[in-house]
Amino acid sequence: MNQKKWVLMATAQTPTNIAVIKYWGKRDETLILTITAAIGMRPWFYPLMISVSPLIQTTFCTTTTVAVSPLFHQDRMWLNGKEMSLSGIRYQNCLREIRSRANDVEDEKKGIKIEKKDWEKLHVHIASYNNFPTAAGLASSAAGFACLVFALAKLMNVKDDEGKLSTIARQGSGSACRSLFGGFVKWITGNKEDGSDSFSVQLADEKHWDDLVIIIAVVSSRQKETSSTTGMRESVETSMFIEHRAKDVVPQRIIQMEEAITRDFPSVARLTCADSNQFHAVCLDTCPPIFYMNDTSHRIISYVEKWNRSEGTPQVAYTFDAGPNAVLIARNRNIATQLLQRLLFYFPPPLDTDLNSYVLGDASILKDVG
Ligand code: ADP
Ligand code: DP6
Ligand code: CO
Repeated sequence: MNQKKWVLMATAQTPTNIAVIKYWGKRDETLILTITAAIGMRPWFYPLMISVSPLIQTTFCTTTTVAVSPLFHQDRMWLNGKEMSLSGIRYQNCLREIRSRANDVEDEKKGIKIEKKDWEKLHVHIASYNNFPTAAGLASSAAGFACLVFALAKLMNVKDDEGKLSTIARQGSGSACRSLFGGFVKWITGNKEDGSDSFSVQLADEKHWDDLVIIIAVVSSRQKETSSTTGMRESVETSMFIEHRAKDVVPQRIIQMEEAITRDFPSVARLTCADSNQFHAVCLDTCPPIFYMNDTSHRIISYVEKWNRSEGTPQVAYTFDAGPNAVLIARNRNIATQLLQRLLFYFPPPLDTDLNSYVLGDASILKDVG
């Protein structure tokens, strides 16, 4: 390694991954091994955030830049502009795993040559930004750790594929295991003690079902009171229902969901809603009970249930992670437009909102409302 003053950087961007069959409960806290498989989807087509107040509309993802330089004297990280500690075991495990797989890197233009053995001595600076609420049940830990692992792997010229990287991201946050792939993704439980067979596979890519539209209704962007990590630990320790869910329910649902993903929307919707509701039932069965959803979340569920019942077949699926925010999956753009209109009717935005900002792809939703 030459001693010139240089900085080498890599940037990655990763969308979140919302579970349709939820992971809730670990059998190993350090390696982050799950008690059940889980299936998630990366919102791929105009995921739209609408909040009751104020209004935001965007695709939501994490952007992480990692930099290495002989000028850096310790590993440091900034999340959303604030410095945070990297001393936690999850960050340390991800950094160690990636460093151990690093390879030679050469940038002739800048006159930089880093040999494999140099990576142990070099320090990294990490700057990460989530363009959606952090720690509010919209899978920031999933996008965050997947993006971190991917950016570090890029910087350090790691040659492993996404499957292997998913076992590293998993050690940052369980849900991050699924976030390295697009489309529908399954996190395989695995049974080896070292976690090497607990990774993710893509079940279907983004193109397979590209008329689905995901709308996120941001009910609250506040940080949740009980983190997912603490919540699931308490559920494993105290809920009687969680064992039934893990043994008798999730394994069946995983098989059914894999079948439904072949574009059977009513089945995807029924399974997704049922699994979200059961996951929140486990939270209620935890001692003390955990309330991730609030009254607004419950109202959204009621509206969707009523609408689906009146149509005779599901048009929209809802799912809530560990937080009050609704992830709504519409079966196509026409239904998504109707859904957005209904949400705006039931939860009118503040008076000074520019209503033309509600745009779904190239169609302005509000033009049709009258
Ligand atoms: P969420 O429902 O948003 O996933 P969690 O409780 O699971 O909430 O995780 C939130 C934690 O994830 C944060 O406190 C932080 O430690 C970590 N996290 C969130 N975003 C990032 C990021 N961009 N990079 C690294 N870690 C992140
Ligand atoms: C309800 O992956 O955030 O969103 O592994 O402790 O970091 P840790 O928890 P996390 O839990 C996610 C729980 C969930 C369901 C899911 O994403 O599968
Ligand atoms: Co999380």
